[in-house]
Amino acid sequence: MLAFLSLSLFCLSFALSIQASSKLSPLILHERRSHIPSRWLLARKHDASAVLRLRFGLKQSNIHKLEDYLYDISDPTSSNFGKHWTPAEVAKTFAPSVETVRVVYEWLTENGIPSESLKISASKSWIEVNTTVEEAEKLIHSDYHVYRHEFGQEQVACNEYYLPEHVAPHVDIVTPSVHFDAAIRPKPMTRDTALMKSDITVVNTTYPGVGHCDTQISLDCLRALYNFHYSPSKSSLNSFAIVEYTPQTFNQSDMDLFFTNYSIPELVGRPPFQVSIDGGYQQTFNQSFDYVGEPHLDLQYGMGLVTSKLNVTLYQVGDAVNPNTSFNNFLDALDGSYCTYEGGDDPTTDAIYPDRQTGGYDGPPACGTAKPAAVISTSYGYNEADLTSFYATRQCNEYAKLGLMGVTVLYSSGDSGVAGNGQQCLNDDGTQSANGTRFNPSFPASCPFVTSVGATQIVAGNSVSDPEVAASRVTAGGVFYSGGGFSNVFGIPDYQKDVVATYLENFETINFTSAAYNSSGNSRGFPDVAVNGAAYVVAADGEFILEWGTSASSPTMGSILAMINDARIAVGKGTIGFINPMIYSASFRTAFNDVTSGSNPGCGTEGFTCSSGWDPITGLGTPNFEKLKELWLALP
Ligand SMILES: *[C@@H]1O[C@H](CO)[C@@H](O)[C@H](O)[C@H]1NC(C)=O
Ligand SMILES: *[C@@H]1O[C@H](CO)[C@@H](O)[C@H](O)[C@H]1NC(C)=O
Ligand SMILES: *[C@@H]1O[C@H](CO)[C@@H](O)[C@H](O)[C@H]1NC(C)=O
Ligand SMILES: *[C@@H]1O[C@H](CO)[C@@H](O)[C@H](O)[C@H]1NC(C)=O
Ligand SMILES: *[C@@H]1O[C@H](CO)[C@@H](O)[C@H](O)[C@H]1NC(C)=O
Ligand SMILES: *[C@@H]1O[C@H](CO)[C@@H](O)[C@H](O)[C@H]1NC(C)=O
Ligand SMILES: *[C@@H]1O[C@H](CO)[C@@H](O)[C@H](O)[C@H]1NC(C)=O
Ligand SMILES: *[C@@H]1O[C@H](CO)[C@@H](O)[C@H](O)[C@H]1NC(C)=O
Ligand SMILES: *[C@@H]1O[C@H](CO)[C@@H](O)[C@H](O)[C@H]1NC(C)=O
Ligand SMILES: *[C@@H]1O[C@H](CO)[C@@H](O)[C@H](O)[C@H]1NC(C)=O
Repeated sequence: MLAFLSLSLFCLSFALSIQASSKLSPLILHERRSHIPSRWLLARKHDASAVLRLRFGLKQSNIHKLEDYLYDISDPTSSNFGKHWTPAEVAKTFAPSVETVRVVYEWLTENGIPSESLKISASKSWIEVNTTVEEAEKLIHSDYHVYRHEFGQEQVACNEYYLPEHVAPHVDIVTPSVHFDAAIRPKPMTRDTALMKSDITVVNTTYPGVGHCDTQISLDCLRALYNFHYSPSKSSLNSFAIVEYTPQTFNQSDMDLFFTNYSIPELVGRPPFQVSIDGGYQQTFNQSFDYVGEPHLDLQYGMGLVTSKLNVTLYQVGDAVNPNTSFNNFLDALDGSYCTYEGGDDPTTDAIYPDRQTGGYDGPPACGTAKPAAVISTSYGYNEADLTSFYATRQCNEYAKLGLMGVTVLYSSGDSGVAGNGQQCLNDDGTQSANGTRFNPSFPASCPFVTSVGATQIVAGNSVSDPEVAASRVTAGGVFYSGGGFSNVFGIPDYQKDVVATYLENFETINFTSAAYNSSGNSRGFPDVAVNGAAYVVAADGEFILEWGTSASSPTMGSILAMINDARIAVGKGTIGFINPMIYSASFRTAFNDVTSGSNPGCGTEGFTCSSGWDPITGLGTPNFEKLKELWLALP
């Protein structure tokens, strides 16, 4: 990982030929930031003689064909359906070309950077050079400043930068440049970090069975709602994983309490199969709700629903002190070809390991060290606006690569309706604030290559046989509505074009205009599906409490898909992989319970309203396991 190759010999013979043409190549804008992220302030102009560690993230080969490759194996009418790629095939297909490395290298040396001070990462995805600020500004036509966060940390960044026309197609990203940090946070759940202690509902009596599902969700409620009564068989070939980020942790005695109360003795005393990534571990310094609420919800339901016959994998990512651990650090562990510079895809946004802080993980960054599970559920997210589109796109493409390898990637869609985490909305200049008027989509939920899961609930007084509605909860401590809407970064994927068009044709905005979101019909709509996310009974801190959120919906959907994989494996078929092209097809749509009531308020509006067919609150609706299983068993 840390080894660099020398480029000087390899490039020598090409220097002359490129030189002539590139001198004439005009500079073109490569990236521009519309605003300084909230909580950062411009501190000063950066010192011209300061040294900048400038890194160029190189464009991957064939990346423009990624979508076609993915649909080719995900479309049942294709002869390549289900023919998942090996990790080696993925790595080989997308590695930056020799030509890309050469063009960027030669541009740098022509501009006076001595070849011995250029380094290329082992994966050949990044080129690094130490320059002065003055040299960097001249090179990429930028203006570096120092920004200070309200908590005191500083960051070097520029507002925009340019690359020569012939170089630009070979470069994804330059760092440091327009990018700022954005530490990932657990999705706020309504019994969550955003709530006052007084909002926590302690349950004194738990009810197994389906008699109280409107006030307390149990495993039995979910089984009844989704026609999900299945006993798995071939567990050794199947896999299902849940991802958590340290210091989030679980406490085995709470897990045991849960499985004891719900009479699943086989799971008592049986932790998930833990895979440590970048030093991930179960911290014991603080196991209050803020630290166990998410993992306990995910694991108690994930494990309970797939039963003891399938060992659930827990990817535990990052040390307890590094705030920068990100989805990219996790993806590096799953896909060795994604590992780039010292383990993080973007060294100014992702965590750098080894982390030399006290309590930090001092080992090498995880790179291809974790085997991807067939279904992976994550209940954490950013707002799209926390990240630049280059960063989000690069990561989104990686989810497509996992799809190529046959992995189903699920993300919760967010808990703030059309607003972002913390009820932040977009201002016209792209900054985020509580009084912004534009909707604020979440990421990765808005990436077209993940399956995004929204939330439903049972209306008070109703039973599991009544239609569910979009989730909503309003308390003194905060609100919870199913995240959904239209991306400001990603274009619409083919698989959802018709249903999104139908929705937009019939949808009437209530108290907001199309200025609030991308209403063109050309933007990715999310979520894709929905699952109950209201009042899950969870054991935490020695008691039973209720939790709300799309955080609950994603692992439940994951369990359902993991059992479909089990059924397919049992008859000698492969895993389902990237499911979106399938679930949006006409036949699969009938295997979802359409959710037609409810909305997802936010940003001072009522948000979108549910309708028959797909909608940006509950997607295609909630799953009917038996119907989905039959449809998937009928496929090759
Ligand atoms: C740039 O400087 C840093 C810190 O001194 C060093 O670790 C790194 O190897 C240097 N990179 C190059 C390309 O020389
Ligand atoms: C559970 O018991 C506590 C203490 O007796 C009480 O304050 C609380 O309201 C009860 N919770 C419910 C949901 O009844
Ligand atoms: C949990 O189960 C135990 C044993 O059956 C029982 O004593 C206890 O009351 C249950 N707790 C709740 C909150 O239902
Ligand atoms: C699950 O894990 C347990 C404990 O590690 C192990 O004994 C068992 O064989 C595993 N079962 C399967 C089906 O992999
Ligand atoms: C544990 O974390 C909670 C929530 O962040 C905090 O209120 C509490 O003081 C912490 N407890 C200890 C012992 O540090
Ligand atoms: C997290 O990232 C910021 C910005 O790149 C950096 O200043 C900080 O040192 C990083 N923290 C750690 C623990 O690496
Ligand atoms: C929006 O809220 C911010 C603080 O969050 C405040 O500074 C600003 O004045 C508000 N703008 C309007 C138009 O209310
Ligand atoms: C809407 O999304 C499409 C596709 O990403 C994009 O081309 C278009 O510019 C967006 N429109 C607006 C107003 O942002
Ligand atoms: C729309 O705005 C009007 C006037 O402000 C208000 O009376 C009404 O309740 C709003 N309707 C919704 C659905 O928010
Ligand atoms: C785990 O939970 C048990 C029961 O609530 C508690 O006694 C124990 O202190 C917890 N462990 C940690 C490390 O907090």
